[in-house]
Amino acid sequence: MECITLNNVIKRFDAVVALNNISFSVPCGGRYALLGPNGAGKSTTMKILAGLLSQDSGEVYIKGMKPTSTDVKRILGYLPEESTPYRILSVRENLEYIASLRGLRDGQSRIENLIDILDLRPYERMQAGKLSRGNQQKLALALVLLHNPEIILLDEPLNYLDIPTQERVIKYLKTLVNATFLISTHIMSIATRLTDHVIVISHGSVVWVGSIEQLKSLGREDEPIESVVVKLMGV
Ligand SMILES: Nc1ncnc2c1ncn2[C@@H]1O[C@H](COP(=O)(O)OP(=O)(O)O)[C@@H](O)[C@H]1O
Ligand SMILES: [Mg+2]
Repeated sequence: MECITLNNVIKRFDAVVALNNISFSVPCGGRYALLGPNGAGKSTTMKILAGLLSQDSGEVYIKGMKPTSTDVKRILGYLPEESTPYRILSVRENLEYIASLRGLRDGQSRIENLIDILDLRPYERMQAGKLSRGNQQKLALALVLLHNPEIILLDEPLNYLDIPTQERVIKYLKTLVNATFLISTHIMSIATRLTDHVIVISHGSVVWVGSIEQLKSLGREDEPIESVVVKLMGV
């Protein structure tokens, strides 16, 4: 079954064609990277999938449902590129607020768990607006994962994180084996660490889709995978 589907999606911002007839799908349980250079249309795709932007034409489905439907909100976790927790609430208050909005029965235990996993314990009483950018990103991730979403859209999730935290987050995301992932990035190593398939986009169009293994096999034996990707992107 397909959990994420885009068919012939076009999105313009005035004269700019951000998505130029884009189509791809992610099977349920798949771990896919959306890989493309700056301005390729990754964030626009993610916003449309999260129901925050509407396409000009084409169809978009999350498990066969429109992204704006309430049933989708229950099963989807979306991390925007620039995520902003409530600045005047503390780390813990942010988590408690979202847990109550979502009506989570196991909210408290999930909050404790995510605070530990993301190493937010030392900051739990600090106002989110006073956190370092990296710690804000950790909180944003915790808020997205709080309801244990089955479909997870992460837009450049490792931005701002230091190397130990990146490793911690990668390790945790790998434990979520039942979820469907679409992770946008312009960094190849994030794709290879977190996903097994890639959708390469460039100038709003899909230029290649396949497994990481297939991608590696496109290049010469000693060729870095980045160089293979750059050729595909044609930039
Ligand atoms: N709100 C907007 N208004 C005008 N142009 C936009 C807007 N959002 C994105 N764009 C343009 O759409 C294109 C794709 O942007 P984006 O999806 O953010 O790319 P990416 O995330 O791959 O870097 C870019 O040319 C960008 O300038
Ligand atoms: Mg982006």
